[in-house]
Amino acid sequence: MATSFLKRYGPWALITGASRGLGAEFARQCAERGLNTVLVATNANLLQAEADSLKHVYGVEVRTIAVDLNREDPLQAITPIADSLEIGLLINNASLSKVSPFLSLTEAELVKQLQVNSRASLILTRHLAGKMAERKRGGIIFLSSGSALFGTAYSANYAGTKAYNLIIAESLWYELRPHGIDVLGFMAGPTKTTGWDANSPKTARFVKVMDVKPTVTEAWNALGKRPSLIAGKSNRLGYFFMGKMLSRAQVIRIVSGSMDKMFGPFDKSKGIKNKRGDSDA
Ligand SMILES: NC(=O)c1ccc[n+]([C@@H]2O[C@H](COP(=O)([O-])OP(=O)(O)OC[C@H]3O[C@@H](n4cnc5c(N)ncnc54)[C@H](OP(=O)(O)O)[C@@H]3O)[C@@H](O)[C@H]2O)c1
Repeated sequence: MATSFLKRYGPWALITGASRGLGAEFARQCAERGLNTVLVATNANLLQAEADSLKHVYGVEVRTIAVDLNREDPLQAITPIADSLEIGLLINNASLSKVSPFLSLTEAELVKQLQVNSRASLILTRHLAGKMAERKRGGIIFLSSGSALFGTAYSANYAGTKAYNLIIAESLWYELRPHGIDVLGFMAGPTKTTGWDANSPKTARFVKVMDVKPTVTEAWNALGKRPSLIAGKSNRLGYFFMGKMLSRAQVIRIVSGSMDKMFGPFDKSKGIKNKRGDSDA
């Protein structure tokens, strides 16, 4: 299994947001399958620690690129390393995912989120897909989210970026197939990562928070077989039934209400997060 994976997507994988969370786990599972990895994120120390661990445990080669993807030309920092390697797998994973009322975020914060979550993925994909097409093989995964499927308050811009990632992935799934490139839009559900914890969620009985390992494993099973996948059986069932049985307005109310319960309460009049336990009336 590892050999055919290596043949199809090797010898190098480039993973953005690989310093922690799902990105670090994607890198680990790539290395486990024998792929050398290029790890991209802003925090050079965390990247180096991940690189040392992958080299030590799996004996693969690792390069790190410390770059802020919120820049006009993200390729400038990436191509000097990436273009000297045969990258057969791109994982567009880096993301900013702050849960907060839209009006509490500045224009600069919102644009940064758009750049990191979607624009950088677009630019990297255009660059690396061209090279994969020349070799007639490769894979690209866009990290999306269940919030891509329905409007989600307190995550409006984030949800928009994830919807972009989902639709570009599904479109390219069809279009790049004749070039030998497998593309997947991977909708992670609630997953225990530093990004998830940073939003200080309250535990909720109706939300199952997955670990990174089983989440990432689901992506490999779907890559090359389908255009997109929602991670987690209960998440798949939940979205399936909501989509079939409720109007979009009803689903948006339910999803947005649960965001408020889990990450708020948010003060709707002021656009801020109330202190835990305050009333949001
Ligand atoms: N965790 C969940 O519950 C969940 C649910 C649905 C979808 N997802 C999706 O899964 C992916 C990973 O999520 P996660 O929870 O693992 O995220 P995370 O823990 O917040 O990690 C985000 C990664 O992105 C990097 N990053 C952030 N800003 C960057 C920038 N400006 N330039 C370069 N790299 C940057 C971070 O590294 P540095 O800080 O070192 O830059 C880090 O490696 C995301 O696309 C997210 O939308 C996650």
